[in-house]
Amino acid sequence: MDSTAFAPPVALLEREHEIEHVQSALRAASRRAGQAVVIEGAAGLGKSRLLEAAGAQASGLGFRVLSARATELEQGFPFGVVRQLFERALLNAAQDERERWLGGAAALGAEVLAGVPAPGSGASLGVPADDPSYAWQHGLYWLAANVSSDSPLALVVDDLQWSDAPSARTLAFIARRLEGQALALILATRPIDPGTTPDTATLAADPDATLLRLSPLSEASIGSMIASRLSGTPDRPFTRACVEVTGGNPFLVGELLSEAAVRGLDPTSENAADVAAIVPRGVSNAVLLRLARLDRPTRALARALSILGDGAHVGDAARLAGVTQAEIESGMASLVSAGVVESGGAVRFAHPILRAAIYEDLSPAERERLHCAASKILDERGAPVGQVAAQVMHTEPAANVGAVALLREAAREALALGDATGAAALLARALDEPPAAADRAAVVLELGQARARAGTPDAVAPLSEIVARGEDEAAIVAAAIELSGMLFFSGRGAEGAAVLRRALERLPAASSGREQLDVALLGASYTSVSARREADATITALRDPGGPARGVLEATTLATLAMDELMHLRSAAKAGDLAVRSLAAGLPSEPHRGEAWAIVGLAVLAATDELAAALAGTDEILARARERGAATTVANISALRSFVCIRLGDLVAAEADANAAIELAPDLLGAEFVVLALAVRVLAGLERDETPESLRRVIGQAGIGYDTEFSPSTQLRYASGVLSAAAGNHEAAIEELLDCGMEHPALGGENPAVLPWRSAAALSLAELGRDREARELAEDEVRRAEAFGAPRALGVALRAHALVGLGGERADTLRQAASVLAASPARLEYARALADLGGALRSSGSRGAAREPLLEALTLATRCGARALERRTRAELAAIGVRPRTTDRAGPGSLTPSELRVVGLAADGRTNREIAQTLFVTEKTVETHLGRAFRKLNISTRRQLPDVLARASN
Ligand SMILES: Nc1ncnc2c1ncn2[C@@H]1O[C@H](COP(=O)(O)OP(=O)(O)OP(=O)(O)O)[C@@H](O)[C@H]1O
Ligand SMILES: [Mg+2]
Repeated sequence: MDSTAFAPPVALLEREHEIEHVQSALRAASRRAGQAVVIEGAAGLGKSRLLEAAGAQASGLGFRVLSARATELEQGFPFGVVRQLFERALLNAAQDERERWLGGAAALGAEVLAGVPAPGSGASLGVPADDPSYAWQHGLYWLAANVSSDSPLALVVDDLQWSDAPSARTLAFIARRLEGQALALILATRPIDPGTTPDTATLAADPDATLLRLSPLSEASIGSMIASRLSGTPDRPFTRACVEVTGGNPFLVGELLSEAAVRGLDPTSENAADVAAIVPRGVSNAVLLRLARLDRPTRALARALSILGDGAHVGDAARLAGVTQAEIESGMASLVSAGVVESGGAVRFAHPILRAAIYEDLSPAERERLHCAASKILDERGAPVGQVAAQVMHTEPAANVGAVALLREAAREALALGDATGAAALLARALDEPPAAADRAAVVLELGQARARAGTPDAVAPLSEIVARGEDEAAIVAAAIELSGMLFFSGRGAEGAAVLRRALERLPAASSGREQLDVALLGASYTSVSARREADATITALRDPGGPARGVLEATTLATLAMDELMHLRSAAKAGDLAVRSLAAGLPSEPHRGEAWAIVGLAVLAATDELAAALAGTDEILARARERGAATTVANISALRSFVCIRLGDLVAAEADANAAIELAPDLLGAEFVVLALAVRVLAGLERDETPESLRRVIGQAGIGYDTEFSPSTQLRYASGVLSAAAGNHEAAIEELLDCGMEHPALGGENPAVLPWRSAAALSLAELGRDREARELAEDEVRRAEAFGAPRALGVALRAHALVGLGGERADTLRQAASVLAASPARLEYARALADLGGALRSSGSRGAAREPLLEALTLATRCGARALERRTRAELAAIGVRPRTTDRAGPGSLTPSELRVVGLAADGRTNREIAQTLFVTEKTVETHLGRAFRKLNISTRRQLPDVLARASN
């Protein structure tokens, strides 16, 4: 064996620029300004070498370095890369250290790190059924953050192009939250095809990451590589020939020079022509030449290893290659000294290009035979199913029942860990096998479910097949629910409802599956306009089961009836009672598709002025969802809570909740109700004196528009109309507001307790002098609100009626509005009516009588945080010569809603990290808010907070 075939390490050439970037990223990270660096380059350009250097740099700067390398065959192992990163460090950590690392939200991440016990993994920390992916990412992020609080942490990942999807998503999640953490992410990847690995492509294209694209080496550098490998300074033509053949790729240069060294070629002008002859068919040829010099059993071993991939067991490789114990030992030694395989514990190719060259040299028949044999060997030894399945994926279909079972099991595991795309690929292959006739339907269903969860439209075909022709009742139900859910989600509600209906027709009358389908149909009708139309007949036929709800079907039925009572403007008292009885089923911890009745029940309470009960319900769900890291639930329920808070007149809380929902939504699938938060954000912003232009921008940035198919989005249309009016654009306002009443009653246009669009439009009409229309609309709204019987809506309608009505009756009608609102929990509307009453009295000359309502309005407006109203009321008071003391603008009143929320948690004694975990934001965000709040409050430590807040609330 010629040892010169194995290239000695060469100094890193021409990477000064990259090294400098990495260095400054690391320096920044050690100052807690976390950074991500992505090194990109084609095979062999020197990414791994650079990564090695980066790792060494990081260690030198006192970083803890955790590294991982993705491999082609492991792409199908969910969280494989993340496990490589953290598993060893966690196992090697001392008990107390491990507990610290997995403390708080990080415990959620332990679920995916096999072999690492979650500390105190009680029920409260269980992974939610709803959106485990977010909770895992959130947990793993905080694990990295916790590890980095001892000493700065560098996460170094090589060959990212082969990363499993869940790991790529997790790294992307971390990359977006690096600020304020002593964390550096250093990633290397070959150029990525976004079509095949979208998650990895997103990560590599992260706009905040520094992208370093590696260039080929220059002629000068290649000259120096030649000089260090072959005898003597190379002649220019020889160097040029090397550049020509390799394109300056250092890996290829190395291979070329190894071969030249074996042949005893000197780097002279005369030998330049031989360079091209060494590698007539590209460089893999040079690799194969190297291999050709080894003996037969060693070559067989190398081929077996190329089939099994990095991390193969030597025993498996030996069985696969059919070599003896003695042959393995000498074979492995030869492969190491030939530089094909690295020395040390796990079997690893010295370079991925080597594995690819050996693998690609196999004939298709040979590959097939070896993959088949490998799957059997791995299966017999009890290797993880994912590993066995990876082998099966490379074989031709053979109607093998065992293979089908194995692929299905691997798919189940992948799905459980959030890799729906991976699961779908495994199941598609299982279907090709094909399965035994008796199993086919089950595989089709699983394939459809996996594709639906991956969000791909090709889920429709397999799921429709089961709904139309399946024979198993449970399968029909499952397929219909999955398919309809997917259709609702993509705005195709009518089709979704039709699917559920078709499934209902296929089930016998006594089937227990009907209940689930009924619940799904009603659940869809809550938010999908076309599903609501489809469900009209079903809803009309619903019977009140009587008494408090027991179970999901009763809760759903009652919530649907409550909603119907509300939307059809029947009775507020009855709607409230139905809602309360639906909620008696017990609040689900994560209301999602099947349990959306809870959201509906609470929304009905909000519309019928049962605001305290609605608030208590949202708080209960939120507390549990936060603990579980169930972000989708937190986003949806925060949106609902913002809606309750604005009705209570707590504008600060309304805005903080709305912001929380809006900020979380882009990371989530299924945070549908943010549209509600956006509407509240706009209405609260107007009251808090933000300009209409800036609020229009808020709508634009949220990227959520009015969606005629999604019923809660009428709230946004209403808010947008009010915004246009505030901007003085009354024509546009009238158009948008009148639109709110046009369609199906389920959109809320009938009932002013849902959408007081008539009164809002009336005010704009009056501005344009269209008084008669204004009065008609306002009167209509008063009649509706009276009929329904919700005081807030009636007060709002009466106020508008007074403002657009005849001057002589104005004060009386406003007094009536104020007295109705006084008895309701709607503080903001009450303040508004009082302010207008004071204004009307003043302008009619009753200055003395104006004083009391104006002072009361001022107190309430200040308490609500309604700055616009406060300003107007002060102006009215000034006009009658009253100048109350201005509120303390340096106190908590000067804080933004988000600052107040952070300050409130800090005053309760929570650490920045705990606050960040609770609110799903970074610690840096918490620090920034607290810093600003401290400056405004003129305090220096958080110990002063409780005092300052207590003083302010007195
Ligand atoms: N800047 C450099 N100067 C000198 N030699 C280098 C340089 N970069 C890489 N090499 C050599 O080239 C070979 C290939 O480098 P490396 O393994 O880092 O490539 P890679 O980009 O990681 O390829 P792959 O995409 O296949 O993993 C190694 O043997 C390495 O020593
Ligand atoms: Mg590499």
